[in-house]
Amino acid sequence: MGAEENGYFTEENSVDVVTSRNGGAKSARLKVIMEVVTRKLHEAVKELEPTQEEWMDAILFLTRTGHTCTDWRQEFILLSDVLGVSMLVDAINNRKPTGASESTVLGPFHVADAPELPMGANICLDHKGEDMVISGRILDTDGKPIANAVLDVWQANDEGFYDVQQQGIQPDFNLRGVFRTGKDGHYWFRAVKPKYYPIPDDGPVGQMLGALGRHPFRPAHLHYIIKAEGFETLVTHIFDPDDPYIHSDAVFGVKESLLAEFKLAADLARASELGFEGKFWQVEHDFVLAPAKS
Ligand code: BEZ
Ligand code: FE
Repeated sequence: MGAEENGYFTEENSVDVVTSRNGGAKSARLKVIMEVVTRKLHEAVKELEPTQEEWMDAILFLTRTGHTCTDWRQEFILLSDVLGVSMLVDAINNRKPTGASESTVLGPFHVADAPELPMGANICLDHKGEDMVISGRILDTDGKPIANAVLDVWQANDEGFYDVQQQGIQPDFNLRGVFRTGKDGHYWFRAVKPKYYPIPDDGPVGQMLGALGRHPFRPAHLHYIIKAEGFETLVTHIFDPDDPYIHSDAVFGVKESLLAEFKLAADLARASELGFEGKFWQVEHDFVLAPAKS
């Protein structure tokens, strides 16, 4: 028996036998990861005592999850999202100093090459939905404006679909844009009020949510990636606090600090300045970037 061996496998010594077999792992990090994963996995199996059929069901579920993945659909990320693991990894990797804006999940609908637009542009290209103007400032943790910050924004339309989900129905790059701040750190653009929508729920993850008595909806939100030199990149959303799903986001992405105020304005003079025809929604939200880690 080699030094790395630990006897034959038994129910009692299962963790030690498997872990010592991995003793020659090529990386110290991999060795630690496998030690922890083995310990937790065996602990779960010992507590649950699955039947052979239940274990096969679990394997077939993961198999279907893999088969559902394509170049444009990642069912494993969706699984991680609905289990709260994506938000946990995000939280661990984005601990922010006091006063800095909080992050949340990126999601699958970001498009890398959205057009850079002049400040104030209307990102709603098909004019469907309730008009909305969004504004605010990009600040540092001392409250000073950040010039040359680049905001990449995207959102679902008033029916809860992203442009990439409705190719040929919505114009390309509908409800997306990139904006760059001037010296005052101010940003503003026009859009339409987004609506809640279901995460892709026609695959194994959707079936799992159904079996758990859970709905697949995300509350209405706008996505932002904000980059500026000398600062940590912020991947975040702002949410409509009056959304029916605000307390039960399917992917656990809501944080108190990300709730924005969506005010309905009836100022017709302002509406006409903005190119709107009647009432419109007004949202104002500042973002505070954390300094880059040296
Ligand atoms: C999104 O907000 O776009 C999203 C996030 C996680 C899963 C599905 C969609
Ligand atoms: Fe989204």
